Amino acid sequence: MAGPAMTYSMVDYADVQGLLRFGYGRMTSASYALVRVKNVAAAKAWLRAAPVTNAVEQNPPPATALQIAFTAPGLTQLGLPLSVLKGFSREFRHGMNADYRNRLLGDVDLNAPKHWRWGALESEPHLLVMFFAEPERFDSFVQNTKGDTWSDAFEEVIRLGTSNLDGDEPFGFADGISQPQIDWDQRRETPCTQLEYTNVVALGEFLLGYRNEYGKITDRPLLDPDSTNKELLPAVDAPEKKDLGRNGTYLVMRQLEQDVGKFWKFLYEHAAGNLAEAGQLGAKMVGRTQAGDPLVPIQDEPIPGTESRAVKQNQFTYEADPAGARCPFGAHIRRANPRNSDFPERRIGALRKLIIILGFGPKGFYDDLVSSVRFHRILRRGREYGSELSPEQALQQALPNEPRGLHFICLNANISRQFEFLQNAWIANTKFSGLTGESDPLLGNRQSLPGCPVTGNFTTPESSGLSRRVSDLPQFVTLRGGAYFFLPSLRALRYFAGT
Ligand code: HEM
Repeated sequence: MAGPAMTYSMVDYADVQGLLRFGYGRMTSASYALVRVKNVAAAKAWLRAAPVTNAVEQNPPPATALQIAFTAPGLTQLGLPLSVLKGFSREFRHGMNADYRNRLLGDVDLNAPKHWRWGALESEPHLLVMFFAEPERFDSFVQNTKGDTWSDAFEEVIRLGTSNLDGDEPFGFADGISQPQIDWDQRRETPCTQLEYTNVVALGEFLLGYRNEYGKITDRPLLDPDSTNKELLPAVDAPEKKDLGRNGTYLVMRQLEQDVGKFWKFLYEHAAGNLAEAGQLGAKMVGRTQAGDPLVPIQDEPIPGTESRAVKQNQFTYEADPAGARCPFGAHIRRANPRNSDFPERRIGALRKLIIILGFGPKGFYDDLVSSVRFHRILRRGREYGSELSPEQALQQALPNEPRGLHFICLNANISRQFEFLQNAWIANTKFSGLTGESDPLLGNRQSLPGCPVTGNFTTPESSGLSRRVSDLPQFVTLRGGAYFFLPSLRALRYFAGT
């Protein structure tokens, strides 16, 4: 039966890679092949035949999925002209390993590219090929998908395995609970003034070629039509051009190794050998308990965009906790998503909001502390690696030296405004939300900075108005590799592969 007529503003899910819409949670086996192109013709032939999974909803859902993303050097290697490449964002073109980016992202000292397992200049991948499958199908799926041409086409820089920790990350906390809800139907009016926190975010924040939270369409390569790009869709804002970005997005990948033993030993020592208290301090650092419950009360009023998800664990803001007595300002999830609106983060009445909207509000210290989160959301799609370790096991003195961590992956239309802002201004920043001398308790690299010699504190305000401070936090997480990729639409992928 024919569906409703497709208008150009509607998303053609058959053109979008599935990872944007699905986390493939049932496909508990996954691996990431980071490869360099060895033979351009063979690589293009492999890409043309690759059964890349799109975002159309299937019933029953598929048991396997393949996704492919490209670095800027990868696109160049495949022959993309420089004039086209220039249409991609600067961050993507220059790469995560660019010198000036290291300090911005906190990739210094132990996190510096010279220590990476992959992604530094000499081990920079061209492609990221992601394999997902239900466990019994995994090996045959990978083998069949690679086929005979794979080894002619590519040289593997590294193959990263993943593990299924049943929804927990290696420190033992439930993960994957809070995600933005993408406004696929584009009902959200932008630009707008956001009075209350919402979890619904404009499609253009995650997919190129659509309106973002500013009501604008993010820059991406627009091409003059010719015989090679016939299949590409026209640009909404420049119909005479072909839109190479439409239905694609950027993918950020970082291999974050977690020292689970160091984490639990530090907490245990601070709790004077009381494991329950150690768990509570860990929960303050994350902003949720190990089971994933937030530290602030769940509110009765619904929050748009949290209805269909784990409502109980996600229907909250920090408005009821203005002093951080329940969830510290520095907690990982309060930094990563302060759940604010376009207004300063404190309780204000309707009249005061109106005064601020009209521009008569005070221009005080707190007003500009934390930028409105709707411009800085990311869609997280990473997976864990290494075997599970309970806190009790982690406390044992001699631990087998098995690497554990998170292959952090996030999707966003603007790496600089979304991932990099989050990482730089909120996670790594030692002056976030009025704090000083501390960065993210889980992720901070603890390096002294000019004007901020100490960065390893963690402050937990108490309801009495006093604050406790944990100091000398060690570095629990080390960056082992990373790169910026473009996750193209299926049309763009065919254009890269040549027809
Ligand atoms: C090893 C490194 C990391 C660990 C162990 C970790 C752990 C966690 C945990 C346990 C949660 C709470 C569960 C949830 O809400 O889904 C969470 C949430 C989150 N994390 Fe991380 N994370 C890591 C790295 C990062 C990085 C690098 C970023 C971004 C630059 C990030 C951004 C976020 C965001 C945006 C949320 C959701 C916050 C919310 O909406 O409430 N995380 N993380």
